[in-house]
Amino acid sequence: ESYDMGGHDTYMHKEICEQPDAVDRVLRGRIDDRFNTVHLGGLNLDAREARGIRRVKILGCGTSYHAGLIGAGLIESLARIPADAEPASEFRYRNPVVDPDTLYIAVSQSGETYDVLAAVQELKRKGGRVLGVVNVVGSAIAREADGGTYVHAGPEVCVVSTKCFTNTVVAFALIALHLGRIRDLSVSEGRRIIDGLRRLPAQISEILESEGEIKKLAEEYADAKSMMFIGRVRGYPVALEASLKLKEISYIHAEAYPASELKHGPLALIEPALPTVAIVPDDELLEKNRAALEEIKARSGRILAVAHREQEKADHTIVVPKNEDELDPILMGIPLQLLAYHTALSLGRDIDKPRNLAKSVTVE
Ligand code: AGP
Repeated sequence: ESYDMGGHDTYMHKEICEQPDAVDRVLRGRIDDRFNTVHLGGLNLDAREARGIRRVKILGCGTSYHAGLIGAGLIESLARIPADAEPASEFRYRNPVVDPDTLYIAVSQSGETYDVLAAVQELKRKGGRVLGVVNVVGSAIAREADGGTYVHAGPEVCVVSTKCFTNTVVAFALIALHLGRIRDLSVSEGRRIIDGLRRLPAQISEILESEGEIKKLAEEYADAKSMMFIGRVRGYPVALEASLKLKEISYIHAEAYPASELKHGPLALIEPALPTVAIVPDDELLEKNRAALEEIKARSGRILAVAHREQEKADHTIVVPKNEDELDPILMGIPLQLLAYHTALSLGRDIDKPRNLAKSVTVE
């Protein structure tokens, strides 16, 4: 895409709206319908090496770290390799044990974030194998890594990341599918995920069509001084990312918690003035998530649910189309980008250049 605003008032809005095309681009040319897998030659991993991986550790900062958390879940569920994500800044300062059987993956939109680059360099010094999941072609992290994949989101100008977050998660779905099909993911499971991936661009377009409704909700909740975001397992990183987005551009304080942790402390905060945004997918945890909504309602908390069908306990529900359980986080994040955007807009914030932030943090 060009740097032209293309009729949008802000780059953030333009970049949110570009997501169907961006997702189409990250998928293009990579799907193998014959073997129900994907081709990611840039990973530089042959089948024997891929089978030898014992753990995956994903490193990134901010939004890229959140994409990495979803990526870890995808790798664990599709490839059945233990995987987790950690802020790169924390990792490099705790003198980590570098394990030759672990695959390290550095995630970065810019490919220039100093904390991520330093973690990659530290890993390489200690003999670790590092791949990059990066947007900017030829950037420092892409050059330093042993291999990787570009996420092909196109140029992202707004300081806050939207389309690159979505594309990074899709890139992780491709990596997880690739590793899974080399390991124990069956042909039919591979097909199920490929079909789900192909549905994403049209489903994102469908969500973008409900912008008017989301704008009204944003205006209704914009008076909040603070907001709670909750989700469970796959929904928790969606909650983390949505709360970061709201903080960054609206300056409303927001907290994200696993829904299961509410009773271990944050429930004390619930009252009518603290709205909760709840991620409630139609998956095996639906009843557990509904129980959390009941707990909040019992304390007179306002609830905005993002779900696959209307939630009776919620004051409002944003209904999103259903995909495969593993891919649902990709879709559930989109309306929350619009919610943050319209909240910030109604508060008169400078959306593309939020105070105190830079697009790429190239210093410590
Ligand atoms: C995204 O909205 C933020 N601007 C920020 O958290 C960002 O994701 C982080 O600084 C990492 O940047 P990178 O992806 O370019 O490495």
